[in-house]
Order: sequence, then C-alpha cells, then structure tokens
Amino acid sequence: MIPEFADPEAPSLPLWLVRAGDSAPEIPSEVEPLAANWAKAQGFSGKPGQLCLLPSAEGGLGGALFGLGPQPKAGETPGRERFPLARAAAALPAGNWHLANRPQGLDLAQAVLGWLFAQYRFDRYKRIEAQAARLVCPQELDRERLIAMAAGEYLARDLINTPASDMGPDELEQAARNLAIRHGAGIEVIRGDDLIARNFPMIHAVGRAGAQPPRLIDIRFPGTGPRLTLVGKGVCFDTGGLDIKPPASMALMKKDMGGAANVLGLAETLARLGLHRDMQLRLLIPAVENGISANAFRPGDILTSRKGPTVEVNNTDAEGRLVLADALALADEEAPDLLISMATLTGAARVALGPDLAPLFCDDDGSAATIQHAGLAHADPVWRLPFWEPYEAMIEPAIADLDNAPSGGFAGAITAALFLRRFTGQARCYAHFDIYGWQPAAAPGRPKGGAGQGMRAILHALPDLLS
Ligand code: BES
Ligand code: MN
Ligand code: ZN
Repeated sequence: MIPEFADPEAPSLPLWLVRAGDSAPEIPSEVEPLAANWAKAQGFSGKPGQLCLLPSAEGGLGGALFGLGPQPKAGETPGRERFPLARAAAALPAGNWHLANRPQGLDLAQAVLGWLFAQYRFDRYKRIEAQAARLVCPQELDRERLIAMAAGEYLARDLINTPASDMGPDELEQAARNLAIRHGAGIEVIRGDDLIARNFPMIHAVGRAGAQPPRLIDIRFPGTGPRLTLVGKGVCFDTGGLDIKPPASMALMKKDMGGAANVLGLAETLARLGLHRDMQLRLLIPAVENGISANAFRPGDILTSRKGPTVEVNNTDAEGRLVLADALALADEEAPDLLISMATLTGAARVALGPDLAPLFCDDDGSAATIQHAGLAHADPVWRLPFWEPYEAMIEPAIADLDNAPSGGFAGAITAALFLRRFTGQARCYAHFDIYGWQPAAAPGRPKGGAGQGMRAILHALPDLLS
C-alpha cells in the first residue's frame, strides 16, 4: 500500500490542535463560540490525545478539536508519544481533514508524518479496514519528502511483516529487483555455489541449509559524488541453525531480515527524492535462511572469511555477523566514504535499550553525534554504544582468529559490533545499527509488527556525514 494525502481541492473539515492551558484548554479564537462552549460542556481539556467532534451550524459535523497537552518546555526530551497526531488520525471519522491552526512548539512535519504512519495497514493476508480519515498536507510542508519517508517506512514494514513462507531469499531478491527497476539502479546477485567461487564463504556456509539458496544482492544507484554503502542483514528466517532456538525465541524470526528491509526502505526514500544522484549509493544484502539440514554448518566449524581471518563457529545462532562480515569486506574493498550496516543482530541490544531505541556504533564522535541528534529530532531515536576496545579479547578464541559467539555473554551487542568492525577499515567512516525492527505493541503511528528504525536518523544526518 502507498501513503496518501487528501486531495487539497476536495472539501475538508477543520481540525484544531489545542494545548492544555494552565486552567482551561487554549481553544483558538477562530473556533465558533457555540462549538467552543460545546467542547467545554463535553469536558474537553486539551489533554494529550483527547478528541472532541464539533457541530456545524446546521447540526452536522463541523470539525474537531484534538488535545496536544501542555506546551513542552524548551529543550525538553521527547515526550511519551512519538507521533502526537497519529491518535487523531486513527480516531477521526471518515472524510478529509485539514489542520486549521499551527500551535507553537509543534513539529508540524513530524506530526503529519505520524498521520501517514498511522495510515499503514498490512493487508496481504486479510482484509483490514483502511483508516477512514485523510489529511490535506499543509501547504508549507514538503509533501514529496513526507510521502517519500512514509513510502520507505511502509516498504520496510511490508517486507518484515511478510512471513518467511513468502519472504525467503527468492522473494527478498525480487523485492530488491523491484526497487532497482523502479529507480533505474543496477543489480547483481551472486547465488548458491557461485558464492564459493566468488569468495563469500561465510554467506554460503550460513545459508546453504536453507530451503532457497543463499545469495548476495548488490545494487548500485546511478549517481556521482561521495560513496555511501548500506549493508543490511537479510536472514529471512533464523532457526538458530543446529544450535536451534527454543520456540519463544524463534517465534519472531521472520523479522531477521529487518536490516535488509531498512536499507531497502531508506534507499526507497533517497531515490524518490532524487538524493541518490548526488552520491554513489550501493546496497549490499546477504540474503539467507539460517536453516537446519544435513549440510548445515556446525558448532565448532572453522570458516575462512572473504577478508582472510578464520572464524570459529561457537554458536550457529550467531549467524548474522558471519554473513555481514563477508558483505562488509566486499563493501570495504572500494573504500566508501560512509559504510553503514543495519541488522537485527543481537538479543543483547534489545535487552539493553528495548524495542524503541536502536544502539548505534560509530568510532567518529562527530558523526555519531550527528546521527544521534538527527534521530532524536526526527522521531527515530538511536543511542550510541561504544566499540569498546578492551573487549576485543573476548572475540579471540584459542584456535582461530575470531569467535562468533563469545562465552560469558557479556556485552553481546558490543562484541557483535566489534566482530563486524574487523571486516572494515578502508571506509572513511563506519556506522553500525543493531536494530530490533519490530513494534511489540501498537502505539500511535506504529502498529504492532515490522518497524523501521534508523532510516530517518540516517536520512537527515546524511548531508552532514557526506560533506
Ligand atoms: N537474530 C538474532 C538476534 C535477535 C534475537 C534479534 C532476538 C532480535 C531479537 C541473532 O541471529 C542471534 O540469534 N543472536 C544471538 C547471538 C549469540 C548466540 C551470541 C543472541 O543475541 O542471542
Ligand atoms: Mn541467530
Ligand atoms: Zn539472526
């Protein structure tokens, strides 16, 4: 499905956004006195999320008030709800609406983006009622930018929500091809035994027991300028391999291609905006299923990576870093200006920061701050964790260069990130996002299910990062 605004030419009803004042709601003076009185009689206080439908002079529906709560204080950290307007989008009756006022301190673009986010439905397998209320995009906003961001988010959600029965490596490749075709990008896919011939041994080892052959998807967008390479973990299903996951841990593992979904979503946004033309954008997605079969890789196996270091497999469930390592090594060979990996890499990340906040790793203080600030400013929060040098020893086993699953389980997100960093070094800057990619319970603008993470943080940081 695609994000849409209401036709600005069609008639629409006014939606007033109202702050809760100290003693009474700050109902704008343009609201008819009769309607304002009606709202007060209804007990409308302007508290966050409160909706009050207003009568027209003829006794029909004339508009609505929506509460935003008290005015935020300057410098206040994000409130409880990421998308203030999304609740109104879901609750308003069918029809077209326009924002009738511009309350102080409201990030209008973000509010409107939340409306588009709330409109998302995953209806591939079941008819689901569409959201009835449509918003006229406020004139002062960049409509195309909002649509492009929402389209990237929708794409990521769709890809994650689609179960492995319909989103194996074949279908993930098809989704990548569709994106490439839509935007005039070139795509190359190295599949099956060719991975061995072309020296991607770890992608092959992890994916060879899957129902569909493992592969590396490589997309290049037409453009000139600094090189930006995005690498996304595309584990279409993660059983854990021979170190099989217990049922509760396996239940959500269709989302283990969330990193791939997010880099595809971000590329969709960049390409819709034509931003790819001022850079050399490349996407790399190792697409595999971490399956179980006689030919599955085993605990104790020692793999030789594309880059050279040997890796002792101490847990077949730490598969993401193996496939990413070979993809990152390839990316790094052409020394991009900025190399970014996104991956549902560790359970430890979820334990540390929860589903809302993705750990970000980046050695460059300035770039890390830029990304973190952009994320906070654009309702896409990420939080920096360190590539903690002293923990390097934890990923060095006795009989190989690297250990994919250090025992002890200390700092699991950090040791995974350190493992990935070993396969970079030529890139001018490397940033890694250990995302969750899933909204566990519905929140305004964020239905339960697949979720984008880090896309807008990166999008808004890019001008700075690539300059
Ligand atoms: N895909 C999982 C990580 C994951 C689990 C992400 C749950 C989000 C939610 C990854 O492949 C994995 O299984 N990692 C292991 C690594 C461990 C064996 C070193 C983990 O985090 O438990
Ligand atoms: Mn795993
Ligand atoms: Zn995994």
